[in-house]
Amino acid sequence: MTTDIYYFSGTGNSLYIAKTLKNHISDSNLIPIAAILNETSDKINNSIKNVTETIGFVFPCHGLTIPIPVKKILKLLNLSSSKYIFAIVTRGGSVFHGFSAINKILNKQGRQLDASFIIDMGMNDPKLISFFVPTAKELKVIEMNVQEKLNTIQNRITNQEEYHDDISGDTFSRFNSLNYVLERLVAFTVHYIAPKVKKYFYTDSKCVGCGICEKVCLSRKISMVNDKPIWQNHIDCYYCYTCLNFCPTESIQIYSKFYMKSYTKEKGRYPHPYARVKDMINQKKCPSSFINLRSKYSTIGKKEKLVITQLEVVN
Ligand SMILES: Cc1cc2nc3c(=O)[nH]c(=O)nc-3n(C[C@H](O)[C@H](O)[C@H](O)COP(=O)(O)O)c2cc1C
Ligand code: SF4
Ligand code: SF4
Repeated sequence: MTTDIYYFSGTGNSLYIAKTLKNHISDSNLIPIAAILNETSDKINNSIKNVTETIGFVFPCHGLTIPIPVKKILKLLNLSSSKYIFAIVTRGGSVFHGFSAINKILNKQGRQLDASFIIDMGMNDPKLISFFVPTAKELKVIEMNVQEKLNTIQNRITNQEEYHDDISGDTFSRFNSLNYVLERLVAFTVHYIAPKVKKYFYTDSKCVGCGICEKVCLSRKISMVNDKPIWQNHIDCYYCYTCLNFCPTESIQIYSKFYMKSYTKEKGRYPHPYARVKDMINQKKCPSSFINLRSKYSTIGKKEKLVITQLEVVN
């Protein structure tokens, strides 16, 4: 039985989980969400039918819920013929409300998650006062816990078990009603207010013009102009923080005046210990020998357009 694992990863945590799962689940494929969205966004007009029986999504927690690109791909995929659907979120440790957001999308196809798992890993958001770069000792502890959790996840997926992790985690106050309001406010801020801030990212004088940020940018928002990165306003950001965490001189900062106080100047950066720049670049590639997007021409309005109808992984 084939398993397709869709992944999205800003700094390598979710990539590590997706890769490890692939190595332990026979006949499984890794599908990079960023590549599908970037390379086909102009061609996708219909939902993409996925023909695989087991399908999984691995991604980070963003603002207590699912990242923008994960929401996008879920809305595009037709999963009606999938038999078992699972999701794995990697997070810094807060409460996570994303599984209900996924189920809301899947319900429209009469489906819901058969299994949902949470894995606590290194936090990759240096704008927060609580952010810290884990020491080698702390990383070892995280890795041990991750391996232990992965073993049970692999078994549950292989046995197609119905299972749902407890979503609780760090929150804001001991009062549930206050948390209810604040948690929704955070999700709204990360997903709807932050994208409105025009100069959210900027570079300080440490920028050496190496262009790594442009190469790793998962949404292709960054463009190098005169050896300086420009965040193009007309392209949506995924808030993966890949640019921020992979800049070798730590010169990318987050502007804080109209949003929330940012600590990027004081804090270090976090890429997963095994993640390399080339892993992030590979996440943007959609090799045609690997992923075959079946398409046909159809008339949309007055125009004839190429419509993606089926996504098939070719080994
Ligand atoms: C924009 C943004 C928002 C985040 N929000 C949360 C959050 O609400 N709760 C949490 O526990 N971690 C949060 N994180 C941390 C990531 O979920 C966590 O570090 C994750 O494992 C990163 O995975 P990745 O390397 O695959 O992107 C956030 C990270 C970013 C960049
Ligand atoms: S990765 Fe950093 S140093 Fe390199 S161009 Fe981008 S901002 Fe400048
Ligand atoms: S600009 Fe930075 S945070 Fe936004 S999509 Fe590109 S790499 Fe990710």
